[in-house]
Amino acid sequence: MSKEPTAVLPTEPDENGVTRAQFIKVAVGGMCLAYAAAIGYPVYRYLNSPVEREAALAAIKDVTLAGADKLELGSVLLFKFGPYPSMLIHHRDGKWVAFDAVCSHLGCTVQYHPDLDKIVCACHGGVYDAYTGENVSGPPPKPLRKFNVKVGSGSVLVSRV
Ligand code: FES
Repeated sequence: MSKEPTAVLPTEPDENGVTRAQFIKVAVGGMCLAYAAAIGYPVYRYLNSPVEREAALAAIKDVTLAGADKLELGSVLLFKFGPYPSMLIHHRDGKWVAFDAVCSHLGCTVQYHPDLDKIVCACHGGVYDAYTGENVSGPPPKPLRKFNVKVGSGSVLVSRV
């Protein structure tokens, strides 16, 4: 009866003093850490983003939009309030309003539709009132953040409420 040869892993350390078993443990541990980071970092960013967003917004008190006082009736001007997209609307009746342009559902950028006189989120069909920023239909759970608007000569000052 012949005996099958069996594979035996060398247990002797190499020239650096590392055994194969130690090398495999370190390699598997490293791969597990990289895998955990690849999964965990996006989850952390998703969960932590509202906190970071509030901190970034809190650091900015106001934004001056040079030349925005010339914005035509029924038009919108997109701008950044800190790192976030925002919109200044000059309604056809002459009223000025400004909102955060980040949908309260999942954070897509919303757009003003002058023909509907609504602010719409194309991601999942959310609709907001273009005067108040209230969420009026679709999945958004909260209104858009509203800003104060002060129209001056040659500029518009948008500030946090
Ligand atoms: S992200 Fe705007 S409706 Fe879903």
